[in-house]
Amino acid sequence: MLVAARKGSPLVVGIGKDEYFLASDATPIVEFTSRVVYPDDEEIVVLERGREIRIKTISNVEKTPEIKKLELTLNQLEKGGYPHFMLKEIFEQPVALANSMKGRVHVNPEKITLAGFQENRDKFLAAGRIIITACGTSWHAGLIGMYAIEEFARIPVEVEYSSEFRYRKPVVAPGDIVIAISQSGETADTLAAIEMAKAAGAFIFGICNVVGASIPRCAHGGCYTHVGPEIGVASTKAFTAQVTVLIMLALSIGREKGTLSAEKYARIIRELQDVPEKMSGILAKNDMISRFAKTFTYAHNFIYLGRGYNFPIALEGALKLKEISYIHAEGYPAAEMKHGPIALISNEMPVVVIAPQSGTYEKVVSNIQEIKARKGRIISVVTEGDTCPIMS
Ligand code: BG6
Repeated sequence: MLVAARKGSPLVVGIGKDEYFLASDATPIVEFTSRVVYPDDEEIVVLERGREIRIKTISNVEKTPEIKKLELTLNQLEKGGYPHFMLKEIFEQPVALANSMKGRVHVNPEKITLAGFQENRDKFLAAGRIIITACGTSWHAGLIGMYAIEEFARIPVEVEYSSEFRYRKPVVAPGDIVIAISQSGETADTLAAIEMAKAAGAFIFGICNVVGASIPRCAHGGCYTHVGPEIGVASTKAFTAQVTVLIMLALSIGREKGTLSAEKYARIIRELQDVPEKMSGILAKNDMISRFAKTFTYAHNFIYLGRGYNFPIALEGALKLKEISYIHAEGYPAAEMKHGPIALISNEMPVVVIAPQSGTYEKVVSNIQEIKARKGRIISVVTEGDTCPIMS
């Protein structure tokens, strides 16, 4: 007899042929069986060979086990010829994003159909404020979500680090919407943060990638990113899918509230539809980027700059450099350079500037001029065909 108990950490039971499996995640089970049970917190699992699985609550009340079928397949867990999972997942993005938008982003006519929103539209339309809580890369996606929801839906949004939100005794009230963003759906701080917000009466909405994980099961509603398992520790395809779902959500709320024009709604949807193909174009530059990167291995510090929607992107770029190459990096709003960091500029510290042709382009050009005046070395990420000499 094998007895397992779930308290705070994730637990999955695999039901095979005359055999059972226990794990914290479905990935080690999938090669043996696709039938799983996800016990809830404070539940006890009793497994005996030749007997059906039994589940009891901590107060010894029997519960009928709910057997689910895993969507996961074994080949999704293979490297597929790539040297490591992170590179595979970076290159999966065009297909992964297309999957994330499948059945949700429509053109002719342009429309978003997001079930998680439709099922809870009244909550979103009546919301006085939205709190987004997440960790790491998911927190950066939350910042982009804040920009989009405030711009399109005109609802005040605040973005919280889950580890701070759960302990600082925040003011959360019924009517508030708390969006939890988490690829794994198991990050303890984010789970604890929404349990606290739920107890305060908030409506919890999850944006996760793992079906049946703790966070989506704790939430009242939500949307899955549907990009397949992300094995790499540093999030890549899940991040771009989180941003996509947040944009779809912001578009949906804005359109229903009438705070977003039909023209802009349709235009952004057409752009969303084109993103996977544009991503493929960038990924095709992999070898050039790889050669270019080699010229910066001397650096011990980087600064990443962006404005508007590209400020969270600058933060994410800096985080990726830190967690992957162990080079210290900071992300900043481009205009903040003059308030201190400019003092650090030298040719020893490359500056990555995200400067697409957008409303703030001219301002970013002047930020770059300030950096060049101090012999700073610029790596500019620009719109294809931009020949502005300052960018090179
Ligand atoms: C960190 C990862 O450990 O956890 C990040 O390195 C990730 O990439 C963060 O964004 C949060 O994880 P999750 O699963 O809650 O999105």
